[in-house]
Amino acid sequence: MSTVAAAAAGAGPRYHSGFGNHFASEALPGALPQGRNSPQRCAYGLYAEQFSGSAFTAPRHANRRSWLYRIRPAAVHDSFRRIDDGHITGRFDEPAPSPNQLRWSPPPLPREPTDFIAALATLGGNGSPEQQLGCGIHWYAANRSMSERFFYDADGELLLVPQQGALRLATELGVIEVQPPEIAVLPRGLRFRVELLESAARGYVCENFGAPFRLPDLGPIGSNGLANPRDFQTPVAWYEDREGEFELVAKFAGHLWSARIDHSPLDVVAWHGNNAPYKYDLRRFNTLGSISYDHPDPSIFLVLQSVSDTPGVDAIDFVVFPPRWLAMEDTFRPPWFHRNIASEFMGLIEGVYDAKAEGFAAGGASLHNCMSGHGPDAATYEKATAADTSRPVQLTDTMAFMFETRTVIRPTRYALETPLLQRDYAQVWRGLKKHFALDAAPAAPAAPRGRRGA
Ligand SMILES: [Fe+2]
Repeated sequence: MSTVAAAAAGAGPRYHSGFGNHFASEALPGALPQGRNSPQRCAYGLYAEQFSGSAFTAPRHANRRSWLYRIRPAAVHDSFRRIDDGHITGRFDEPAPSPNQLRWSPPPLPREPTDFIAALATLGGNGSPEQQLGCGIHWYAANRSMSERFFYDADGELLLVPQQGALRLATELGVIEVQPPEIAVLPRGLRFRVELLESAARGYVCENFGAPFRLPDLGPIGSNGLANPRDFQTPVAWYEDREGEFELVAKFAGHLWSARIDHSPLDVVAWHGNNAPYKYDLRRFNTLGSISYDHPDPSIFLVLQSVSDTPGVDAIDFVVFPPRWLAMEDTFRPPWFHRNIASEFMGLIEGVYDAKAEGFAAGGASLHNCMSGHGPDAATYEKATAADTSRPVQLTDTMAFMFETRTVIRPTRYALETPLLQRDYAQVWRGLKKHFALDAAPAAPAAPRGRRGA
């Protein structure tokens, strides 16, 4: 493992490089015990605490835990009491989902002071936080930093996908600065504070109740490609020694709870292990695609996966559609029409998505559930079927992503009742004309140029 500076020394947080590594880091010299995890007395009077992210007996490749050396143990706070959940929920048993295709306009930035916790609203989800299966899907639009309060999510790992505005994530294990089109992943239960580095921030959150995200196997792709491990960045140890009147907010079993705490819980002076937060710049994604004909399955765009108990069937796939070249000859180049057994929640970080000419705005979202037909809109279809495919074209100004899940994504009441829901969304396919005609038999198909002349 190596430690690299993310920016010039002193200009920003520092990070370790690598995915899932066993890192070791200390903010004070000698704070990290050597050769043991739990000495009788720790240096600087610190407490040792284990922070596990998997069953103790999980296989080594899936085993996650870190050892934290902190000013006070995590147990030191007042009792929790329930507080208003706002638009956050972890229950997806009602309302009943429909097979309708759904799409939302971007949430407006708030006028009232709204921090990250207050901004979170649940659009949908599946499974159950208590069963540690499935996910919650949220978005946020915030305009102020969390200052005197901290948050942790016992229900799941958090995948943050900022769409507007840089964030400073001050966590127990270090500081991450993240801005679009970067993402950040925070382990289940990690305590943190979200600060805005700009006047407003908006984005998406996938709350993963199940197995922590991992990099997919690459099969015949080989040992390189897609998201490369060294591009993931985990912060070095950092702490604050602050006392005062603070609030610790927990999301537990689908609800928000609040406890008074008289010190900052971000007091971990040293740590080692592999249960740690990280960030990743989606522009580093090594996009692969067809260089002959046809459009590959979108699994070729897989960044991170949460595996299920069934081999080859993920509970959650995080998929990104970045800028790229399209080189396929004699091919309908946008995403094809399809119905999938998986369910697809899409968001757009910037630019335009190549299957929708309009209506899918950056910051907006769409949901196509299991077996709901979807694909390019009529304008995109007409353009793509008339396009010259003898030359590659470059897609620029785009960064779309998908949370694709094994089980049906059930929209929340908030998602179905918000005026942001585009109630005429399905009209985008009504303009697809009938072209079928028995007297319009095709000319003999031309072989793609690259396959001619054999
Ligand atoms: Fe799709």
